[in-house]
Amino acid sequence: MRHLLDTRTLAREDALRILDVAEDMRDTQSREIKKLPTLRGKTVVNLFFEDSTRTRISFEAAAKRLSADVINFSAKGSSVSKGESLQDTAQTLQAMGADAVVIRHGASGAPHTLATSGWISAGVLNAGDGTHEHPTQALLDAFTIRKRFFGEDSRGRDLAGLHVAIVGDILHSRVARSNVWLLTTLGATVTLVAPPTLVPQDVSAWPVTIAYDLDEAIATAPDAVMMLRIQLERMNAAYFPTEREYSRRWGLDAARVAALPSASIVMHPGPMNRGLEISADAADSPRSTVLEQVANGVSVRMAALYLLLAGERPTNHAQEEAR
Ligand code: CP
Repeated sequence: MRHLLDTRTLAREDALRILDVAEDMRDTQSREIKKLPTLRGKTVVNLFFEDSTRTRISFEAAAKRLSADVINFSAKGSSVSKGESLQDTAQTLQAMGADAVVIRHGASGAPHTLATSGWISAGVLNAGDGTHEHPTQALLDAFTIRKRFFGEDSRGRDLAGLHVAIVGDILHSRVARSNVWLLTTLGATVTLVAPPTLVPQDVSAWPVTIAYDLDEAIATAPDAVMMLRIQLERMNAAYFPTEREYSRRWGLDAARVAALPSASIVMHPGPMNRGLEISADAADSPRSTVLEQVANGVSVRMAALYLLLAGERPTNHAQEEAR
């Protein structure tokens, strides 16, 4: 794997490979082996042009647990604020010896540009680009679903037979897009639930069912309900009902959680707008996998960095090195 730019073009076998290597990584962490020597001598640059808590820290933790050197770059306080271009910024980091660049950018397609422009030779991992994709979020979501439904060791399994409802601000959500492609590639059925104004125009080309009524969608007994953050920073006010109306019709609260089958899980990529798309009792309920998703994110990002920088899947390599 040379880059990880999206899930739309990620083959089923490559997706399963990442999830299976993530299982290996998680096994080592659960045995309290915090650090593997696998990427010693490699440098990972976290290049963040947009804010992040989970993704940035998770990639940093993942790289450090594989013994890579990590350089954190935030556009705020850098020469980007003096007008420096993406090309010059990336080439500067390449000159400092980057082997992999993890990039989050407000422009859809920026990671693809970086990977294909010839400006740098490093591998590129998309950590979220505009409203386009957030592939490692979808991979950690799929990993979480697989573990919850198929047990601790679910290596090799896809998600066939499972039904996931993705609810909320689909229009602006790169998490929704990456999940639609990945979950359906892995055999799951996906329903999108949203106000009509927050459904993208090109959705008829997506392999999903559309619903506008959350209670009707819940009545279909989805295995997982994935709530999305309302992206007020990208929102055109004309598209958005009042917060009160949105919360009443499309928010997940305790009553809606209680209407789900007992095995169904409640997901959210974070950060959450508590009281808007999800109530505090839904977010903190025993059905919620929010913190599990965060923890799984480190294993999944270790797997992605490993596969980009060290190549072959470790046939129990992680375990061997940990001995
Ligand atoms: N889920 C997610 O991308 O969170 P951050 O914006 O905190 O990285």
